[in-house]
Amino acid sequence: MIHEKLPPFPADFLWGSASAAYQIEGAWNEDGKGPSVWDLYTKIPGTTFKETSGDIAVDHYHRYKEDVQLMAEMGLKSYRFSVSWPRIYPHGTGEVNEAGLAFYDSLIDELVAHSIEPVLTLYHWDVPQALQDRYGGWESREIIEDFNQYCITLYKRFGDRVKYWVSLNEQNHNTNHAYMLGMHPPAVKDRKRFYEANHIMFLANAQAIASFRKHVPDGKIGPSFAYTPSYPASSSPEDMLAYENAEEFTSYWWLDVYCRGEYPSIPYRHLKQQGLAPVFEEGDQELLKQGMPDFVGVNYYQTITYEHNPLHGGVSSGKMNNTGQKGSNESTGIPGLYKTANNPHVEKSNWDWNIDPIGLRIGMRRITSRYDLPIFITENGLGEFDKLESEDQVHDEYRIAYLKSHLHQCKQAIADGVELIGYCSWSFTDLLSWLNGYQKRYGFVYVNQDEEGGKDLRRIKKDSYFWYQDVIKTNGENI
Ligand code: BG6
Repeated sequence: MIHEKLPPFPADFLWGSASAAYQIEGAWNEDGKGPSVWDLYTKIPGTTFKETSGDIAVDHYHRYKEDVQLMAEMGLKSYRFSVSWPRIYPHGTGEVNEAGLAFYDSLIDELVAHSIEPVLTLYHWDVPQALQDRYGGWESREIIEDFNQYCITLYKRFGDRVKYWVSLNEQNHNTNHAYMLGMHPPAVKDRKRFYEANHIMFLANAQAIASFRKHVPDGKIGPSFAYTPSYPASSSPEDMLAYENAEEFTSYWWLDVYCRGEYPSIPYRHLKQQGLAPVFEEGDQELLKQGMPDFVGVNYYQTITYEHNPLHGGVSSGKMNNTGQKGSNESTGIPGLYKTANNPHVEKSNWDWNIDPIGLRIGMRRITSRYDLPIFITENGLGEFDKLESEDQVHDEYRIAYLKSHLHQCKQAIADGVELIGYCSWSFTDLLSWLNGYQKRYGFVYVNQDEEGGKDLRRIKKDSYFWYQDVIKTNGENI
C-alpha cells in the first residue's frame, strides 16, 4: 500500500524506552537478593563475551534516580523495566524480600512523579537459581505456581500505579538459546526438552495473565515476543516452502498460543510424528485459553531470510557473531525445514543483524491480520560500537537513522490499519548485552563502562538523546 498522506501518531502514544533488570541493575547480592541463573552462569568461563557479568552492570540499582531524571528531561512518556525475580523471592518461594519490593516501589514512584508511565516486565530471563536447583526451573510444572505467586505479589504491590505489564520477555529467544543452542542457562541442546520447557512457559504465561485479571482488572498485559519476520530467499517453490516452515516454526508456534490459545496445526503434527511435540496434560488446553493478552508486545530488530535445507546433509548449527566482527555469522537451520540465507537487499550491522525497517511494518501487519490485537513495540534498536569523543560527546547518527526509519514504518503501519499503542526503543542507557559484553551499545545515554570494569559509570547524553527528545516533543511529526 502506498499512502498519499500519513496520519499523525495517536495523541496518547506511549513514546518510551526499555531495559531489563540483569542488564542494568548490578547489586547482584545486595539487600537480600538471591542469585539468579545468570549470576551463576556468567561465572562459568567462556559463556559470555570477555567473561562479562551483571554483577555491577551499569549500577542502576544505586543510580536509578539519576537515570529517571534523565528520562524526565528527555520527556519520555513510558519506561519499560523488568523486576528481578530473585530480588523479590531470594529462595524462589517462601519469604518475600521486602527490600526488593521497596526498591521497585521507589523506582515506580519516581517514574509516576515525573509523569512517566511504568511498563513492568515480570520475567526477563532471571529465574531464581534456587528453583533451577530444586526442580530444574522451566522444565518442571512446579514453576507455574511459583511464578504465579511471584506475579501476584507484584500485582498486589504495584497494581495501583502500574497499568501496563509484560508477562514474559522473548520466551522464544530465551528457550531457543537455553534449550536448543546451549547459550543461555541451563545451556542444554535438546529439541525435545526445548518444546517441553516452552510448553510449561506457555502455561505459566497463561496462569499469570489469568491471575492478572483478578488483581489488576483495569490494567493491560501481554507477552513481548521476539518477532523476526521470515522472508524467502527466492521465489523458487522450495525456498517458499522453507519460508513457510520458518514462519510457522519460529513465529506462529508462539504467537498462536499467546493469541489463540492453541498451537498451529501443521508444525504440531510434524513434531508429534517426530516424537518432539510437548505433552498435554488435563487442563492445559483450558488454561492456555485463559491467557489471551490485551496487546502483543513486539521486540523487533531484524528480518531473517530462509532457503531450502535438505533433510540429509542439511545445515544445523553455525557460528554466531557475538564479537562485532562483521561477516562472522554463519548459516543455521533445521535439516528438512529451513536454513538461514543472506539477504543482499538490506544493510547489516557490525553484528550481522539485518537492518530492515520495512520488515517491522510487514511484521506488524502479519500480526494484525492474523490476531487483530493492538501492538506495543516493546523493543527496537541498534546495537553498535559508539565512540566517546572529547568533551563527552557521542555522535551516533547511525542510531538516529535506524530509529527514524523504523518509526517511519510505524507511521506507515498505522496508516495500513495497525493499532499501535506505543514504542519503546532498546535501550534507554547503555547496558550489558547478555552475550556481547558492553561494547555493543544501544542506549540514548552512554554509560562509561567496559568489559574490563573500573570506569566511573558516568552518564553521557548521545546525539540520539536530543533527537528522540524532539521526536517526543513533536509527537513524531517529522518522522
Ligand atoms: C532482546 C532482549 O533479545 O534483544 C534484550 O530482550 C537484549 O535483553 C536485546 O539485550 C539485544 O540483544 P543483544 O544480544 O544485542 O544484547
